[in-house]
Amino acid sequence: MIDKIKSITNEVEILLKKISSLSELEEFRIKYLSRKGVINSLFENFKSLSSQEKSEIGKLLNELKKFAQSSYEAKKQEFEKKVSSHYKDLDLTLPGRRYNVGSKHLISQALDEIIYIFRRIGFSVFDSPEIEDEYHNFDALNTPDYHPSRDMQDTFYLESDTENYLLRTHTSPGQIRVMEKFSPPVKVIVPGKCYRNEAISSRSLSMFHQIEGFYVDKNVTFRELQATLSYFAREFFGRNLKTRLRPSFFPFTEPSAEMDVECYLCNSKGCRVCKYTGWLEILGCGMIDPNVFAAVGYDSEKYTGYAFGMGLERTLMIKFGIPDIRMFYENDIRLLKQFR
Ligand code: PHE
Repeated sequence: MIDKIKSITNEVEILLKKISSLSELEEFRIKYLSRKGVINSLFENFKSLSSQEKSEIGKLLNELKKFAQSSYEAKKQEFEKKVSSHYKDLDLTLPGRRYNVGSKHLISQALDEIIYIFRRIGFSVFDSPEIEDEYHNFDALNTPDYHPSRDMQDTFYLESDTENYLLRTHTSPGQIRVMEKFSPPVKVIVPGKCYRNEAISSRSLSMFHQIEGFYVDKNVTFRELQATLSYFAREFFGRNLKTRLRPSFFPFTEPSAEMDVECYLCNSKGCRVCKYTGWLEILGCGMIDPNVFAAVGYDSEKYTGYAFGMGLERTLMIKFGIPDIRMFYENDIRLLKQFR
């Protein structure tokens, strides 16, 4: 037993000199100093010795324990000192590295905001398909066969043997879908993507977003349309941007108009962007044509309604002064970051 204690004392001494990391030191503690470690098990054997042996061996054992324990503590302190001096030059007040998490695209943010503006005055939201048939996109909207917008040059048709399918060229077929399903009164907006076979430029793309809105009830007037649109413009542009309604033509409204807002670039003085008119067009609108009511089985003697269709990208270009429509889809982080 005496020999054993001496050899373990030796072993401990040599080992402690070799230890070069905190994890090695921890291994050492577990092996020798823990409750089930080498030194404690020596104390277990100690119990079976005669009382004469006990006094001599007990002394040695206690010395070993003390030695191992205090050398362990000393070594530990030494390591901890090293670690803290390593961090001495670290400035903990420096800001951390920032994670780039994604965020909503500015088109989605604007859609949310616009939906909220219209919900506050009683509009519901309806989803209408992006793939449409000719009937909903044109015929039911009083757009005759010979109308130029039906031309292959303007519309993306899909190949199909049975019926003529196409990518909707506007959100107006949403009016038909809603009125086929619900009887009046209806007060609905239909937001979504539209497609046209356009030459790509700073002002037009072959895919863009529109927001359709319409209201059908007894005694709906043009005056209400005008009030609703100027409410929208005030809420959305956040300041008193001037708007005007200008007579226009659409097959599915009568009378028809377009709404312009004053040019953000030149404050209506006239510049290249507004083609020297001082105004920028953001939507088409009008009173729903009786022929549209006939197509969905509404009684046009009893009901009247207004409708409008707004180009989202154009409207955002005006609100934020974005000069080129292509910038919405180039995903340049320097633009998108400004709308986080
Ligand atoms: N659908 C028309 C367009 O795309 C806009 C519009 C909608 C006009 C509703 C009148 C009424 O230009």
